[in-house]
Amino acid sequence: MAVIEARDVTYRYVNKYQTVDALRGVNCKFEEGRMYALIGKSGSGKSTLLSLMAGLMVPTTGEILYMGKSTNKLNLTRYRRENAAVIYQSFRLFPLLTVSENVTYPMELRGFKGKKAREKAAELIEKVGLPETVLKRYPSMLSGGEQQRVAVARAMSMDTKLLLADEPTGNLDTENGQRIIELLAKLAHEDGYCVVVVTHDLEIAARADTTYRIRDGVLYEETNKPSEE
Ligand SMILES: Nc1ncnc2c1ncn2[C@@H]1O[C@H](COP(=O)(O)OP(=O)(O)OP(=O)(O)O)[C@@H](O)[C@H]1O
Ligand SMILES: [Mg+2]
Repeated sequence: MAVIEARDVTYRYVNKYQTVDALRGVNCKFEEGRMYALIGKSGSGKSTLLSLMAGLMVPTTGEILYMGKSTNKLNLTRYRRENAAVIYQSFRLFPLLTVSENVTYPMELRGFKGKKAREKAAELIEKVGLPETVLKRYPSMLSGGEQQRVAVARAMSMDTKLLLADEPTGNLDTENGQRIIELLAKLAHEDGYCVVVVTHDLEIAARADTTYRIRDGVLYEETNKPSEE
């Protein structure tokens, strides 16, 4: 079964001044153990699709199925807390919490606290390739690449199969960006995560197992190597 799937999804932003059809009938499946790239021009609908998968909103028509269940019918607060781990371009770590506290936070929301949670956080920090000494530091004391690793560890602490990333390398230099992508690919291939990465970077897209392109709200699977439009 796909971890997450879009079925005939449309999304329309409506406000007083305008209506934007951001997605127009999107169908796609995302499986365990694979990394997917979502590419397309600015404004094509990438973040909209990711936000729907993250449970930040529900489709205008159609449905997003997480493990076969429509997000239209799920408690979205709970879904966001327990199932949809999101990694952002700007890292979005909690600035007043230490690295350890950032990583234990999602566990605490599930009632997993104290020493066990701190040990798990230390394990995850090691897994993303950071030294134990960062655990007591605050995010501002880390480089961008290090902060993004912490964000990956925090996402993993949710203990979900689904990792969604919106331009996770957008604020990093090429080398650190590559490292984050290698890490995400490893999580997919070795640990069975379903990883979905929105990116402008074709080199990054080339690391994915499957690349979907969105053009004006319509999604296509790229059969060849991703290329510039
Ligand atoms: N809150 C909003 N209200 C109205 N229109 C919106 C809103 N958010 C996005 N849009 C519009 O929906 C379309 C898709 O936007 P989306 O953010 O999904 O694009 P994107 O592919 O992520 O672009 P980028 O690469 O620049 O991040 C665009 O035309 C955008 O202007
Ligand atoms: Mg976007």
